[in-house]
This record gives sequence, structure tokens and C-alpha cells, in this order.
Amino acid sequence: MNVAVVLVAAGNGERLGAGIPKALVEVGGKSLLEHALAAIQIFNPAQLVVVAHEDHIPEFEMQVRANYAGEFSIAPGGTSRQGSVANGVALVTQELVLIHDAARCFATAALFTSVAEALSHADVVIPVVPVSDTVKRVSGSTIVASEDRNTLRLSQTPQGFKTSALRSALANASADFTDDAALMQSLGFAIESVPGEAGAFKLTTGSDLDRARQDFGTRATGIGTDAHKFSDSGELVLGCLNWPELPKLEGHSDGDSIAHAIVDALLSAAGLGDIGSNFGVDRPEFAGASGEVFIAETLKLIAAKGFAVENVAVQVVADKPKIGPRRAELETRLSQVVGARVSVGATTTDGLGFLADSKGVAAVATALLKVLG
Ligand code: CTP
Ligand code: MG
Repeated sequence: MNVAVVLVAAGNGERLGAGIPKALVEVGGKSLLEHALAAIQIFNPAQLVVVAHEDHIPEFEMQVRANYAGEFSIAPGGTSRQGSVANGVALVTQELVLIHDAARCFATAALFTSVAEALSHADVVIPVVPVSDTVKRVSGSTIVASEDRNTLRLSQTPQGFKTSALRSALANASADFTDDAALMQSLGFAIESVPGEAGAFKLTTGSDLDRARQDFGTRATGIGTDAHKFSDSGELVLGCLNWPELPKLEGHSDGDSIAHAIVDALLSAAGLGDIGSNFGVDRPEFAGASGEVFIAETLKLIAAKGFAVENVAVQVVADKPKIGPRRAELETRLSQVVGARVSVGATTTDGLGFLADSKGVAAVATALLKVLG
């Protein structure tokens, strides 16, 4: 498709008040500009123009180069959003153009595609989302009307246009509009809509930034495996629960394979090595320690790196004990210990290998961590 993307990113971000252009503000270790480029890269337009803040052009250019594999051009920002759009559109050579706000950096590539596809039967296409609040019209502090929200939509970007139509509209603009569809409408163009995305909200104020950091903070996954064989004595502790009908598992600690697999998954997600490198035999204070102690220590380590646990999934590989009857109890206990949802499944090895004949218990765990900010 002959589609260009113009990414407008030249605003000051006055309402956000970060002291730097909004597009350079970071969420989860990546700037809004970089987040926006990630979706555009997947969409893969025929041309990309980034409209950059005039005082920060080298930094914008560097970020685009590092995060976008195709060719691109940089246009300087204007004094208003519309001026920035005009500067960007001036460089467009494609027949169709999508104008996108860097401030809506979480719009997905699928939204770009859906707007671009709808341009086959419309001159102007915008994504919209329904209004869920009841909307009032006011005069000062007085409510003068209640609007029918079923007929209202919130407008998003990317907004799609026939380039020639948008270019002439910008040249003949009678006023400064907050979106390009409003400019086109003022000139009598019909506007089509496609369903927008809740995630494509605009980052305008500090609370929008807080929301983005909550929702889109960087995730990291980790994996851990552990296996211990049964001893001849004692009482099994597995998944921080006691199983009196089975003997203890052997090990430097209490042999709790589930707890150890969880610890390894958490450490690996945080890039902190593994259970041996953190709590190995050179740390005698952990000899015989319970799985709960290992998990508690691990949570301190990952918190110090700025991570919070999103969830953990465990799969036990063993003939015995049978997990099913105590699955709910296990999940509740482990969720309390980890401080996040832990799900537990189980399987056997169909008589194969060392885990057959009830010789021991292995567990595999994955962990998803989130880093805020
Ligand atoms: N924008 C632009 N040039 C301008 C003004 C805005 O390229 N002169 C861009 C912004 O970078 C943003 C989008 O238009 O991606 C939507 O604008 P808005 O959310 O209002 O961003 P800012 O203008 O930066 O914020 P504020 O109005 O709070 O200063
Ligand atoms: Mg603005």
C-alpha cells in the first residue's frame, strides 16, 4: 500500500510538565517516541516522517535511527500541532498518509492497518472509541444539557487521509484544529470511522503517565526448574505445604522443588542468576532453609532491582504426590508467599526417566515480572 506515516512528536508536553518534550518521556525504559516507533515498524509503511521538537532534533533522530529499520525523514515542529502536521505532510510522497500522535504511543500496528485499509473506500478515516461516562454540557458551572452518549465517540489517531486532500486542506485552513479530521470536516469532507483501541489513549497529564507506567511497564519473563529425590525419612514439604504421607526430599535445603523452581524463575526474570549463585552451599545460613525463606529472600532481591511479580505458573512433574486434590490449597499458599497469583499444574512422565516410580519430584516454573517507571 502507498501509505506514509507522519508521526507528530514536536509538542512541549506543557500539561505533563516533565521539563522535556513529551515524546522523550519514558515509560518502562523506552520513550513515547520509541514506543510509537515499535508499532509503526510492525505496520511497515512505505514512508515515515517524524516531526521532531525543534530544540531536540539530534536526539529525536538518534532515537528513530536506533528503533526503526526503514528509511525516514525528520521535519521540524511547528508552533501548533496543525503546523507540525503541515511540516510533516510537506515531505510525504505517498498517495495516502496516516497522521499519528506520539502521545498515543500505545496504538498497535493493527490499528494502523485498519485505518489504512478503510482508506480504500473513504477520503478520511479516524479511529474512535465509545464514551462510557455520562456527558454533560455546561455553561460555567451550570449543567445545561445531558448528552446522549450513544451518539458520541472519542477520536484517536492514527487518522488516515488522501495525501493531496489533506495537503490542500492544511494550506487553506481557516483555524487551528486539535485533530486533522476536524480540519477536513470544516472543509466539507465526509469522515469515516473504524473501532479504536482502549490502549491508544493519549498521554496528556501526569495521571495518564502514571496509568501508562502501570499498564505498560516493562515485563520480563523467567524460567526455573528443580528436581529432588525422595529420602528414606522425614516428612515431605512441597510448595510450602506439608505432605505427611511422603518422606522428605533430599537437598542442601528442605528440598522443596516447587519453591526452588519458583525462586529460579523469579531470579532469571530479574536477571539475577539462579538459586545456586545466590543461596548456594557457600551461604551456610541457608542450609536447611524452607522454601518460604528462599522465596522471601528472592522477593527482596527482585524488589531492590525495581521489579514486582505479576504472576507465576508452576508445573509439577511427579508420580507422587497427586497434586489435583490439593491444587487449590497449594495455589492459595504459594500466592500468599509470593504476593501474586501462582497457578499450579501437574503431569507425570508416563513411566519414563528418573521421575517415574515415585523416585522424586521435579517442578518447572515461569515468572512474569513488571518493572515500574
Ligand atoms: N504536537 C506537535 N507539535 C506541536 C504540538 C503538538 O507535534 N506544536 C504533537 C505532540 O507531540 C503530540 C500530539 O501533537 O504527539 C498531540 O498533542 P498534545 O497531546 O497536545 O501534546 P503537547 O502539545 O506536547 O502537550 P501540551 O498541549 O500539554 O503542551
Ligand atoms: Mg498540545
